Amino acid sequence: MNVDKTSPAALQLKTFIYLTAGIAALAGLLFGYDTGVISGAILFIKDQFQLTSARIERVVSAVLLGAVIGAAFSGALTDRFGRRKVIIVTAFLFAIGAIGSAFAAGVTPLILFRVMIGIAIGVASYAAPLYISEISPPQARGALVSLNQLMITCGIVVSYLVDYALSIGTNEWRWMLGLGAVPALILIVGMIALSESPRWLVSRNRVDEARSVLGRMMPGEDVDREIDTINRSLVIKQGSWKEILEPWIRPALVVGIGLAFFQQVTGINTIIYYAPTIFEFAGFESHKVSILATVGVGVVNVLMTVVAIWFIDRIGRKPLLYIGMAGMALSLGVVGFAFYSPNLSGAVKIITMISVMFYIASFAISLGPIFWLMIAEIYPLKIRGRAMSLATVANWGFNMIVASTFLTLIEKLGKAGAFWFYAVVCVIGMVFCFFYVPETKGHTLEEIEEHLKGSKSFSKLGK
Ligand code: BGC
Repeated sequence: MNVDKTSPAALQLKTFIYLTAGIAALAGLLFGYDTGVISGAILFIKDQFQLTSARIERVVSAVLLGAVIGAAFSGALTDRFGRRKVIIVTAFLFAIGAIGSAFAAGVTPLILFRVMIGIAIGVASYAAPLYISEISPPQARGALVSLNQLMITCGIVVSYLVDYALSIGTNEWRWMLGLGAVPALILIVGMIALSESPRWLVSRNRVDEARSVLGRMMPGEDVDREIDTINRSLVIKQGSWKEILEPWIRPALVVGIGLAFFQQVTGINTIIYYAPTIFEFAGFESHKVSILATVGVGVVNVLMTVVAIWFIDRIGRKPLLYIGMAGMALSLGVVGFAFYSPNLSGAVKIITMISVMFYIASFAISLGPIFWLMIAEIYPLKIRGRAMSLATVANWGFNMIVASTFLTLIEKLGKAGAFWFYAVVCVIGMVFCFFYVPETKGHTLEEIEEHLKGSKSFSKLGK
């Protein structure tokens, strides 16, 4: 950028980027809010509709089923209709889903509206970061990707706070779910005010519109040169589904889908969606206290995500993954032990609470941000979009499997057994990381691609 940083043009650019980041924040916030809100609401929904474990799991995982569907179609939809339009329609779905679930007369309509919200989340989890990455300058792109994860965690905390504030009567769960409509409406208005992604406009041959957006984004810059660059990269980016399966790309696919598996099957969302339920298992008497403890979980999640963002480019991804997964395995082991030992009943509460906090902190510095970051780093340019959406679908699919089997797992293996199961998966995850995951810190995306093409194992990048 050859613009003076204090010039009006540079200020205009900054405002533009912050506005865009604000929109990202809202889509991420909605993702977090709508997935987190169910944790407190489910306690009341369960009581009101007298739900069995299987029905509870269905209400919780309805969003995830929708998210798998939404993520699967997100690439095709955003390519055909544009990022901006798709995000606007998505925001409408968020709003209708939130209001619909608030007024649901029974469990079936509730599940259907939650599936609708899920579709919106699935599309947004791909479309919003894509839109931001396309509209932001390269030097700010990395920070904005991580900002998205930070906003997801903020959305989760906001949902926990709303759950806490509203856990006063039996019917307030309707407000908990309905309030999700507020950020959705702001997102609609915000997106209407923003411009379409110039990259997408160029890809649809709408060059004049792209030129005018770029003119506003990069005052004082050579807009035609930028359009040339976009055109060139569009030619490279036309990889097909068949190319994704080429042998040299396989190690990157294994890492993306593997990390999706370990991010989810180490049990993060049993905590995010069921923390109050777990605290009640541990002996917290009232719904309100359990939800308050859960707010603590949410705050730790946000703070440690900030810590992760600070460390990620300093000590690297792999050390954080090892430290985080070791911490997760240890704390899950302790939670299991607390539930297992019949003599610990008085201490169970405290031990469970501390271990759950330690677990969430360990996740937030490792698998939380690193999964989303790595799937944006490890794939060769020409298949990046498709491979990323594949990893996103896998993530939501594994998420759904875990959320829809957690309570049943507890019934079959016992509480201790269920948490030990996730602990074992953490240990396997560390072994997976050692053998398959490359250290991408400090490498350009081109170096990562070159290494993938070479004969050395992918995990030996930079060695
Ligand atoms: C995961 C979500 C999870 C959230 C918790 C995200 O990275 O994909 O499944 O609920 O982190 O912070």
